[in-house]
Amino acid sequence: MTKPSFYITTPIYYPSDNLHIGHAYCTTIADSIARYRRAAGYDVLFLTGSDEHGQKIQRKAEEKGVTPIQYVDAIVANFKLLWEKLGISNDDFIRTSEKRHEKVVQEIMQKIYDQGDIYKKNYEGLYCVPCESYWLERQLVDGKCPDCGRPVEKMQEESYFFKLSKYQDRLLEYIEQNPDFIQPVSRRNEMINFIKQGLEDLCITRTTFDWGIKVPFDDKHVVYVWFDALLNYFTGAGYGYDEEKFKKFWPADLHLVGKEIVRFHTIIWPIMLMAMGAELPKQVYGHGWLVVEGDKMSKSKGNVIDPLGLIEEFGADAIRYFLLREINLGSDGNFSRDALITRINADLANDLGNLLHRTVSMIDKYHGGKIHKTAVPEALDNELITLAGETVENYKKAMDKMEINAAIKGVWTLISRTNKYIDETAPWLLAKDEAKAARLEAVMYNLAEVLRIVAILISPFVPHTSPKIYTQLGLAVPAHFMLTDAAWGGLPDGTIVQKGEPIYPRIEINEEGVTVTAATKKTAPPAPAAPKVAEQPKQEEKEEISIDDFAKIDLRVATILTAERVPKTDKLMELSVKIGEEERTIVSGIAQHYTEEQLVGRNVIVIANLKAAKLRGIESRGMLLAASDGQGNLVLADAPGIASGSKVK
Ligand code: ME8
Ligand code: MG
Repeated sequence: MTKPSFYITTPIYYPSDNLHIGHAYCTTIADSIARYRRAAGYDVLFLTGSDEHGQKIQRKAEEKGVTPIQYVDAIVANFKLLWEKLGISNDDFIRTSEKRHEKVVQEIMQKIYDQGDIYKKNYEGLYCVPCESYWLERQLVDGKCPDCGRPVEKMQEESYFFKLSKYQDRLLEYIEQNPDFIQPVSRRNEMINFIKQGLEDLCITRTTFDWGIKVPFDDKHVVYVWFDALLNYFTGAGYGYDEEKFKKFWPADLHLVGKEIVRFHTIIWPIMLMAMGAELPKQVYGHGWLVVEGDKMSKSKGNVIDPLGLIEEFGADAIRYFLLREINLGSDGNFSRDALITRINADLANDLGNLLHRTVSMIDKYHGGKIHKTAVPEALDNELITLAGETVENYKKAMDKMEINAAIKGVWTLISRTNKYIDETAPWLLAKDEAKAARLEAVMYNLAEVLRIVAILISPFVPHTSPKIYTQLGLAVPAHFMLTDAAWGGLPDGTIVQKGEPIYPRIEINEEGVTVTAATKKTAPPAPAAPKVAEQPKQEEKEEISIDDFAKIDLRVATILTAERVPKTDKLMELSVKIGEEERTIVSGIAQHYTEEQLVGRNVIVIANLKAAKLRGIESRGMLLAASDGQGNLVLADAPGIASGSKVK
């Protein structure tokens, strides 16, 4: 039987600089999905790579006094090192400077030219070099690039143009008829609106620099870097040199990209494919941005986070786990060291690490390390077994929808339930009672079996951890963890556990603010810091009001449905809330105090009858109540457990 195929890609990143945690985020997600699909029985092609041509790279190389290829060679080596350290399982790494790619780009450019979809004209336009992107006057924001806010440059040259406009109606129709093509829905709507405003033909060649692929029909020109880059997905699938592979993997199942480049992937790329007569990818998913302690990462702010340093400090799996667990794929997310350490200690060291350590220690102590496949079914056991089965099913559903953090949450519910099962069954009491010998064996089996299933389920997320769990359970580590093995009862009778070190030592922070693990700790834990004495907030004098004045304010309980940071602001969060049956949007200045994830699902208190106001172009209807001490601390007023729509009096 032939396996179904799954082709997944990341953006090919610019080797203009080393990669930061945002790039690692995208690649980690793609890796987890690729590993999940392999575990689900797919034949996976997972591609990442580097986008090496263009003006930005040429300028960087000139500044350094080296050739462009010398410049990118060094950085691409760092990309590969990072992916190896992070445990990225890409099947191929495409560099656009490779010969195999040059051939593909030239062949396709020639074909599209021959059929009349490329024409020459004199062009004057506005160009953002960092984004390698053309803009129209009307698209600029304050005269600057609408994507990155940097100045644009006027370009004037004779160039070749690709007839995007010719395909605009076909594209729109395609997007409308294929709701899954662009995800999440918010990105899809943005693109539909963009296309409806009308597409301009695209300038796809340049003559003012030469670091690019030569245009086959006019070698004074090089190919526009995006036209070149998008075709990497073809080259990586074997186009032009491995027809069998290409037939198997094209169309791609998923192009995972950051939200700022959805436009290139859902307008330019599909139109290139239409012009070639090729099938369109099944899905382009635009993920959100990672911000750091609430701020956009940038070199000038000096807050760019180097993933290699973090891996060195915390280990690859801890970083992977944090990125996957903490952030909703479609929304922006926050990276903070505190949140990272909290996750490591709570989820990895406490919940998972302790479950394994307790289980293996007890089997060691009570049964000399031997697992007995004994069943003494009691209600508690049936509940645990049922939950394990449901967890596997819900996990698959969530992963198929790319709700990675939901899938992880489900697994951790099972882990927590199993920790509780230890307390409920109290094996230390069973061990004292001869008559309970079989019961103790059954309990130990159930614990070990949950851990075996958990190891399989989390293998896409923390691929270095699952083998450690298997090893401690005494199981041979498989070449690939397979989901079909996650059925209850697979743990063989007589397996001998191998007690080992805790897989995730707790992390503490010493006086110098440096993280230490319990194992490496040299200094005593720091004395608790003296509580900060906050100055009493000054009482503002306000006139007295009557109860009738107060009654004018409609205070209600609202449930936050979604939360998304407003782009290019530090403080604003766009919330959709539900007040009783009604849904509405509220923009609130709480982004420095709460992550999106902390907000979703929370019941807050809002002024429901406040006049609507526009904030950053978003209509906000209502206001959240929060307490703030004027010293940077802010806490939302909330009403946990009270139905949305309830009155607050
Ligand atoms: O755009 N948060 O390359 P690039 C999350 N070469 N993801 C981030 C991020 C952040 N703060 N910063 C970057 C290019 N990314 C082109 C792509 S594809 C044919 C050509 C991730 O080096 C995110 O996935 O600027 C984003 O789309 C990508 O890196 C951009 O990388
Ligand atoms: Mg970019």
